[in-house]
Amino acid sequence: MSSKDTHTREAFPTDAPAVVTCGLPYANGDLHIGHLRTYVGGDVYSRALESLGQETAFVCGSDMHGTPIAVQAIQEDVDPEAFALEWHEQYGETFPKFDVDFDNYGHTHDETNRELTYEIVDRLESEGYVYEKEIKVAWDPVDEQPLPDRYVEGTCPYCGAHARGDECDEGCGRHLEPGEIEDPVSTISGNPAEYRDRAHKFFRVSELSEYLDGFLDRLEGTSNARNQPRQWLEDGLQDWCITRDLDWGFDYPGEDDLVLYVWVDAPIEYIASTKQYTERVGADEYDWEEAWRDDGEIVHVIGRDIIQHHTIFWPAMLHVADFAEPRAVMASGFMTLDGQGFSTSRDRAVWAREYLDEGFHPDLLRYYLATNGGFQQDVDFSWEKFRDRVNNELVGTVGNFLYRSLLFAHRNFEGTPEAEVSPEVEARIEEAIADFEAGVNDYSVRQVGTATVELARFGNEYIQREEPWNLLGEDDEAAAQVIRDCVQIAKAVAVLFEPIAPGTSEELWDQLHEDGSVHDVTTDAALEAPPRDFGAPEELYEKIEDERVEELNEKLESRVAEAAADATGADADADETESDEGEGDAESAMSDIEPVADDRISFDEFQDLDLRVGEIVDAEGIEGADELVRLTVDIGVEERQIVAGLKQLHDVESLPGTRVVIVANLEKAELFGVESNGMVLAAGEDADLLTTHGDSSLGTTIR
Ligand code: MF3
Ligand code: ZN
Repeated sequence: MSSKDTHTREAFPTDAPAVVTCGLPYANGDLHIGHLRTYVGGDVYSRALESLGQETAFVCGSDMHGTPIAVQAIQEDVDPEAFALEWHEQYGETFPKFDVDFDNYGHTHDETNRELTYEIVDRLESEGYVYEKEIKVAWDPVDEQPLPDRYVEGTCPYCGAHARGDECDEGCGRHLEPGEIEDPVSTISGNPAEYRDRAHKFFRVSELSEYLDGFLDRLEGTSNARNQPRQWLEDGLQDWCITRDLDWGFDYPGEDDLVLYVWVDAPIEYIASTKQYTERVGADEYDWEEAWRDDGEIVHVIGRDIIQHHTIFWPAMLHVADFAEPRAVMASGFMTLDGQGFSTSRDRAVWAREYLDEGFHPDLLRYYLATNGGFQQDVDFSWEKFRDRVNNELVGTVGNFLYRSLLFAHRNFEGTPEAEVSPEVEARIEEAIADFEAGVNDYSVRQVGTATVELARFGNEYIQREEPWNLLGEDDEAAAQVIRDCVQIAKAVAVLFEPIAPGTSEELWDQLHEDGSVHDVTTDAALEAPPRDFGAPEELYEKIEDERVEELNEKLESRVAEAAADATGADADADETESDEGEGDAESAMSDIEPVADDRISFDEFQDLDLRVGEIVDAEGIEGADELVRLTVDIGVEERQIVAGLKQLHDVESLPGTRVVIVANLEKAELFGVESNGMVLAAGEDADLLTTHGDSSLGTTIR
C-alpha cells in the first residue's frame, strides 16, 4: 500500500498523545463480522502504537442520531432514544468480547457530546461560516411531513443508481445533499415525494478548498482516503447543509423545528469520548486537550463509504473551530461473504454473536480480518478460507513453533537454558521489530501481523535446521543455545503478536512465566531475557476440521433460505437502513421481479448480438471508482479490456479464472478514464456472473 513519500510527519512513536478512533456504528442493529473489520483494525492499530511506546487513547461510541435511527424506530414503533440506547448497550458488551478494547465507548446523545457540539457550532457561526438558505426538501404530500435523508429514496443524480436520500449507497458512493435525489419516494409511506421550499443552515465548506487541499497533502493513511477527496476537490466543493427537518437529534440553536445533521455531532463524539476518558483517568494519565486542542496524532479508522465525511466535512469543522487536524485516515475496503455482499434482512451474514457462540477464539477472526488483505483491499470471508488461514498459519506456523520449542525447552531444560541469544537470532528478532514498526508507520495492520508470522516461520526453520534433538547428549551446549534462541523467539512472538492476538499472546506470556501483562510492554521486551523456569506449554490454537466448515456452511445456507421464504410476499426490504456497503443489493429481488416486456425482437435482431464465452484472466479495482473493476477477458481470438461494476459485489482477487459471457460487439465506452471494450453479462443487483457449464472453448459464439 502506502510508500515513504506519503509520510509527512515525524514517525511514530512521537511525544504527542495519539487518538485512534473507529467510525461510530449507528445504534440500530446487530453487528456482523463485516462490521468488525474496522473495529478490529482500529484496535490492532492502537495496540501496535502502544507497543511502540506511543501514548494512545482508543475511543469510539454509538451514533445515536439521524434518520438511520429514526426510520428504524418508526418501523418498530418505539422511541428513538430508547431504541438507540438498547443497541448502544449491546455494542458496548460485544466489542470487548472481541478484545476490541476502547479506552472509552460513549454515545452521541450524551451531555459531553452535546456541550462540545454546541461549542463547535457556535464557533462555526461566530467565524462567519454558517448562513441560511431556502432549499427544496423532499416532502410527503399525503402525510404532510418532511422527508429528510433516509426517509426518501430515489435515483442518484450523478450516476443514476438507486440511492438513499443522503448517500448514493449502491452507486458512486457520493454524499447527497437535500434536494439532490431524483424521483424521490417516501420510505415510510411509499408515497411519491414532492419538493418544498424550506430554510436551512449551511456550512461554507466551499471557502475551505484551499485549506483542504493542503490538508490532503499532509494527510497520511491509506491512499484511497486521499485520492477520492482529491477528485471531489477538483470537481469543486459545495457548501454543506447542516440542519434537518427532523425531531430526533440535537436541536439547532435558536431554531425550534430544525435539528443538527447527524454528521455534525457524530464525529464530535471522537473528541467527547476522548474527553470522557480523561475525566475517568485524570489529565496526568491522558490529556484530551493536549491531543485535540494542540497537536495530537489523530488517526481515524473507517469504512471507505465515509471517506468524504472524514476528509472534507470533518477536517473543515475542526479547522474553523481550531482543533487539531487528523494525521491519518485509514479507510478499509468492503467485506463480502463467499463473494457476495452481507445482507441483514436476508440473514446472509456471520453475526458477531454467532461467531462467539460457535466457540471460536476471537483471535482467530482478528487475525483473519487484519491480515487477509491490505487494509484498503476488499476482503472476502468464507468458512473455508477462515479454516485455511487458521490451520496453515496460526496452527501450522505460529502454534506449531511455540509448542514444539517450549515443550522441548521444558522437558530438557525446565525452562530457558542458560545462554545468551545468538547474534543471528537477535538480528532476526530486530528485523521483526523493524517490520512491525514499519507496518505501523505505513498504516498497514496486515504488516503488523505478518511481521510476527514470518518470525515464527523463521523459528520453525531454525529449529529444523539446527536439530537440537540430535545435539542432546552429543553437544549439550549447542542444544542449549538453539533452545535459548527459540525461547527468545517465542517471547518476541508474544510481544509482537499482542496487537493482533491479545488473548493468546497473554496466554503465551503466562506460559513463559512472565510477570505482569503482555498488554503493558513495548517492543523492547521482545529482546529481554525470559524467566528461567516455566512449565509444560499448552497449544494455543486449535485446528478447524473440515466437517466443522461443512456444518457452518449448511447453517448459513439454510438460514438464508429461511429468510428468503419469510420475505416472500412480505416487505422484504423494510430493514435495509444500515450503512454497510455491498449490502444495499437485491433485498427486494424476491418480491420485485420485473415483468417480462411485451415488445418482441426479431431473430435477426437477436443475431446482431455477438455473445462469446470468455475467461477473466486479470481483475483490478479502478482507483477512485467505488464499483468499477478493470477486467482482462480472454475470448480465444484476443484479450479484451472490459470495465464492469463488480467491485462491491465480488472479491476482486478471486475473479481471475471465472468463465463469463460477454457482449463482444458493444460500442466501446470510457469509464473513469478507462476504455471498456465489451460487456460482461451478470444477473440482477448482485451482479451474479453468467457462465457456461460445459467446456466450450474460449471465444465460442452463444446463440
Ligand atoms: N454512523 C456512521 C456510519 O455508520 C459513521 C459515523 S462516523 C463519525 O456510517 F465520524 F461520524 F463519527
Ligand atoms: Zn451515484
